[in-house]
Amino acid sequence: MLQSCDTMQPQTNGTNGTMSSSILITGGAGYIGSHTVAVLLEASTPHELVVVDNLSNAHREQGQKKPESLRIVEELTGKNIHFYDADIRDAEKLSEIFNKHNIECVIHFAALKAVGESVDKPLEYYQVNISGTCTLFDVMRKHGVYKLVYSSSCTVYGEPRKLPIDEAHPTGLGLTSPYGKSKYFCEEIMKDICRSDPKWTVVSLRYFNPVGAHLSGRIGEDPAGTPNNLMPYISQVAVGRLPELQVFGNNYQTSDGTGVRDYIHVVDLAAGHERAVRLLQQPGASGFHAVNLGTGVGYSVLQMIKAFEEASGRKIPYKIVGRRPGDISENYADVSLSHRLLGWRATRTLEDMCRDTWRWQSAHPNGFKS
Ligand code: NAD
Ligand code: UD1
Repeated sequence: MLQSCDTMQPQTNGTNGTMSSSILITGGAGYIGSHTVAVLLEASTPHELVVVDNLSNAHREQGQKKPESLRIVEELTGKNIHFYDADIRDAEKLSEIFNKHNIECVIHFAALKAVGESVDKPLEYYQVNISGTCTLFDVMRKHGVYKLVYSSSCTVYGEPRKLPIDEAHPTGLGLTSPYGKSKYFCEEIMKDICRSDPKWTVVSLRYFNPVGAHLSGRIGEDPAGTPNNLMPYISQVAVGRLPELQVFGNNYQTSDGTGVRDYIHVVDLAAGHERAVRLLQQPGASGFHAVNLGTGVGYSVLQMIKAFEEASGRKIPYKIVGRRPGDISENYADVSLSHRLLGWRATRTLEDMCRDTWRWQSAHPNGFKS
């Protein structure tokens, strides 16, 4: 039996009894999903927001109906979010949700995302990231919903052949992790379904390195266990949860020898989704569109440490160690297509990214868990 955390009645607009149009957001309780929900509500989206998340990587306090991230977004915005504790691999449950809400389009965040873990548990990653995605697409098709925004990654490009990387760069070559391959395979699946039926409109957003937190400092990134990624690692060192950062290699062909990445503020990234939803609604937009979401500027690990020290007023102890296997030297996006197609560009600076991360981390040293 389907359990919604607000109402069991179909949503109506209250004037003529027709169902309000909704956006289904899978994985909407997670880091990028919850910021996207916040940005959509803050932008007064005309849509109802319906979140499906199995809470495998989101925290719900005992006795609460909604995960902390979404409960706080409701508090911040004063708006309601429809939440379902459901798995994207469960076609029956998904179907019930599609029956209950007038879903116009889907933003699909739900996935497993730990690169190292995916090497040890490839089957689990393919089951969620690929089978789950196919199940979702099948339910969408059965309910006549053909508009989709997908969370892809710059990881699909593998080792860059040229910089900045534009969307015409080959994908799928030299991918080392099942996680990275799952993002690439899903893109290929989406290209095929778009070729098979012109009703589909898919925007695959290739994120560069999302960091930062909501300006309120009340929601942010809350990785399970020891962080794998640089920014949450630095912020946990700054707050005293971890003793020191290991810098993976200082002999790359970069300005200071450490790895360079295109870090993008998660609120800018979230705003890119709002623009992608607008593109879905445009006549003539049908087909598959891959779009980079980055700033176009790369920063090294040492530059990130320095910027975070300035934003937090804390010293970040670090030591240089060997390279991390599978790491690339340098990566940053060509962002011209995102300007042209979505009318979007990142506006937040590195200082904003560090300041907002620190506001969240210093107020929540242990993340969402009280
Ligand atoms: P996250 O883990 O914070 O969010 C993912 C959410 O999906 C979690 O709340 C989790 O509980 C949920 N989920 C996982 N499996 C599910 C399932 N089977 N059914 C329903 N819900 C499920 O991750 P995030 O950083 O917000 O990433 C969101 C998306 O963006 C993912 O697809 C990820 O691969 C992609 N992405 C993330 C990054 C990054 O650096 N964070 C970079 C590139 C791409
Ligand atoms: C990681 C993922 C990649 C994903 C991307 C999304 C890995 C191997 N790759 O890549 O698939 O698409 O995030 O954001 O996890 N660094 C340190 N010390 C640390 C952590 C990182 O020096 O403790 C360095 C790395 O070597 C790299 C930079 O910091 O040069 C950024 O690392 P990270 O945040 O893990 O991102 P990516 O390497 O881009």
